[in-house]
Amino acid sequence: MTIDQTLTSQERLADLDLDQLKELVGLVEYDAAGDPFPVSGWDAVVWSVGNATQTALFFQAVFGMELVAYSGPETGNRDHHAYVLRSGAVRFVFKGGVDPRSSLLDHHRRHGDGVVDVALEVPDVDACIKHAEAQGARILEAPHDVSDEHGTVRTAAIATYGETRHTLVDRSKYTGPYLPGYVARTSGHTRPEGEPKRIFQALDHVVGNVELGAMDQWVDFYNRIMGFTNMAEFVGEDIATEYSALMSKVVASGNRRVKFPLNEPALGKKKSQIDEYLEFYESPGVQHLALATNDILRTVDILRAKGIQFLPTPDSYYEDPELRARIGEVRVPIEELQARGILVDRDEDGYLLQIFTKPLGDRPTVFFEFIERHGSLGFGIGNFKALFEAIEREQAKRGNF
Ligand SMILES: [Fe+2]
Repeated sequence: MTIDQTLTSQERLADLDLDQLKELVGLVEYDAAGDPFPVSGWDAVVWSVGNATQTALFFQAVFGMELVAYSGPETGNRDHHAYVLRSGAVRFVFKGGVDPRSSLLDHHRRHGDGVVDVALEVPDVDACIKHAEAQGARILEAPHDVSDEHGTVRTAAIATYGETRHTLVDRSKYTGPYLPGYVARTSGHTRPEGEPKRIFQALDHVVGNVELGAMDQWVDFYNRIMGFTNMAEFVGEDIATEYSALMSKVVASGNRRVKFPLNEPALGKKKSQIDEYLEFYESPGVQHLALATNDILRTVDILRAKGIQFLPTPDSYYEDPELRARIGEVRVPIEELQARGILVDRDEDGYLLQIFTKPLGDRPTVFFEFIERHGSLGFGIGNFKALFEAIEREQAKRGNF
């Protein structure tokens, strides 16, 4: 039995080891031999934004990411700007149209800022596509090589929910900064003194919002086409407030690096947060990205000082004797969490700390979660009600509730 225990190229670059990844994102040992669609881990999250040049600077100045590669008119790409940023094992690529006829601008007109591609690193692109095709996946790009002086990348792409795609990348024969067509680029931005090298280390999960009644169809897609297994499901009372409801199921790759919760709205008295997302994104799409940190208190302090707004948690959450009894001892006094609005949840494996930002852009669509895991492989189910009530208060302020 071969146990997949290798690091992805991004994790090696970030000097992360397997023990750190077990703690950060709940990596598990697994046997890749029987997996019809083996996935090593995340490759990149590609965004379409209204102004990639400014967004790239924002993510350096505020989220402490490092600029590592670039493509644009100066490198022969007359269609768009693309900036590749890194924080630990996380790679974000921000694209914005330059040519007025760029398809990126059409995408942006419809959806606003959002995620267009959740790219995955795989050891064998052809084997994955052969399996996906046999299972009826929509293949957007057949397997092909792209090369430059740094070597060759084997790549292909399949369609997932909405206009989102999964590009598959085998970069084992490539040493360049990102992909052929990109040049290495470092930042003119200087990290403020005293700020850590990175304020998040890894990507934990990426959540998709799909239409009413479509969740099981997408769970089936990830099970059948990509060999993912079901990790958790949340339906009924746990996940409903007095006014709105949703349903959620989580699928994960064999090694649990890649976790995809899938949400669909459920009928309630008022418009759910998922309905609001679907209305403003104009289709299914990525709702939130959970970024793993080993010091969520520091992450929150740094980001709050830079003006990032988090969903507020009422004091009643922390004063609830039931919560205090349920969570037991965590690494800091609960008052430290309360001062920052950090949520806590515990299950049989351990606990986790988490917090959610408000939407990142102009539309009430994509946002971030920050998560610090201590053994728990969950998603914070004990917090769903409090979290959804906080979101409903924000929806009401926006006039969408
Ligand atoms: Fe989450």
